[in-house]
Amino acid sequence: MAKDFIITKEHRRFTEFATAVRKERTIGICHGDAGIGKTQSARRYAHWDTVEPFITEWGPRTEDDAKLYATANRCRTVFYTPEVLPRPKILMHEIAHLQTKLGICIDEHQRNIGKVTGARSGHTNKWVELLIIDEAERLAPTALELLRDEHDRYDLAIILIGMPGIDQRFRHYPQLYSRLGFSHRYRALGREELLFVLDRHWKRLGRTLDPDDFTDAQAIAAIERITRGNFRLLERLFPQIARVLKINQLETITDDVIESAASILVIGN
Ligand SMILES: Nc1ncnc2c1ncn2[C@@H]1O[C@H](COP(=O)(O)OP(=O)(O)O)[C@@H](O)[C@H]1O
Ligand SMILES: [Mg+2]
Repeated sequence: MAKDFIITKEHRRFTEFATAVRKERTIGICHGDAGIGKTQSARRYAHWDTVEPFITEWGPRTEDDAKLYATANRCRTVFYTPEVLPRPKILMHEIAHLQTKLGICIDEHQRNIGKVTGARSGHTNKWVELLIIDEAERLAPTALELLRDEHDRYDLAIILIGMPGIDQRFRHYPQLYSRLGFSHRYRALGREELLFVLDRHWKRLGRTLDPDDFTDAQAIAAIERITRGNFRLLERLFPQIARVLKINQLETITDDVIESAASILVIGN
């Protein structure tokens, strides 16, 4: 999935937001509809597809590790997804564990470049600057309070990612709310970018998209209406489009084809 990642405008906005939260050592909320790319953006920011396997497997060290340490040093971010109904103590324990391991990687890099020398201390988690928590609506008030405390004690920047309305929910926790630095709304794909994504999908189906062609323009309009620029819906729609084309032995992706594909998925309107 990571190799197909598209650097969208929203991803660039997310990166700016995350960098600002991290720099100001504050707490930020990122909210937006399901399926528009919040999780992917955050994982990408934290280089989590590379870092996570490394710190969870924690196998024998190799010569390539220096690269990973350098990456960890650059982003200094832990990405964490709580389970449903997490127990606050376990949640904090798991986060601390990730912080320690990422911290060790950063510490290694600091040693490689000669910035840190001497005995290894046990406080490597101090290197971690930002904690991103996905699916933040799963956090109970106690967990939010523990995280707020972590932020106060260690100056840890935190981003909470959730669905629309999560920012309103946090209003009920004045301790947390008063510390919020930024609230960031993640938006769906705009038209230009939708066209870019569609162009790739068309190519994957062995066809060429021409927005000036009447049939294609109608197909684009149908997709825009059905998916509203939602990445996940687009990804679910295209295999069905391929199926409808195949079953009916059709060559062209028309708005009718798209309507039939959408009706299978139960996502239309
Ligand atoms: N920038 C992107 N480039 C390519 N595909 C993406 C991108 N962002 C999201 N997607 C696709 O959309 C799906 C939903 O994204 P996700 O980040 O899980 O949404 P959210 O967290 O907002 O619910 C992903 O599984 C991925 O396939
Ligand atoms: Mg998500």
